Amino acid sequence: MNLITLRVYLAALVVFPLLVSMDALAGPPASTPALVEQGKAAYKIHCIACHGEKLDGNGVAGQYMNPKPRNLTADKFKAGSGAQEIFNTTSKGLPGTTMAAFGHVSEQDRWGIVHYILSLRKK
Ligand code: HEC
Repeated sequence: MNLITLRVYLAALVVFPLLVSMDALAGPPASTPALVEQGKAAYKIHCIACHGEKLDGNGVAGQYMNPKPRNLTADKFKAGSGAQEIFNTTSKGLPGTTMAAFGHVSEQDRWGIVHYILSLRKK
């Protein structure tokens, strides 16, 4: 490895993690129709059983739960209803309830779900 290649290599080692962490600090991505569609599909896989087709908390499993799953279009969210807050709740869950952590779902899918919920939420 000559000196220039070494310098480029070292620079990449420093710059790449910086770019990755900047991305993580960037906050919620903007809502786009494509992202909302992606979120709708991911919601049907991960959330629908409890929160239901209409997001009203009456999913096939959710209707029998205590506490009941939140109505995602109308209820107040105790952990906050901003995009970043819903993202955090989705990622970490609500301890002591059946609201599980979905940190294993891809970040892009989680943001999609957040924007899907926000697009249907009554203001
Ligand atoms: C196994 C059932 C179940 C699944 C699956 C589920 N939830 Fe929940 N969720 C709940 C319950 C129950 C609550 C209400 C908990 C409480 O009363 O504190 C809740 C509450 C919430 C809240 C409100 C939190 C607050 O701050 O009040 C949000 C937002 C939410 N869920 C999003 C999601 C999303 C997004 C998914 C899919 C990725 C999902 N949930 C999947 C059961 C579920």
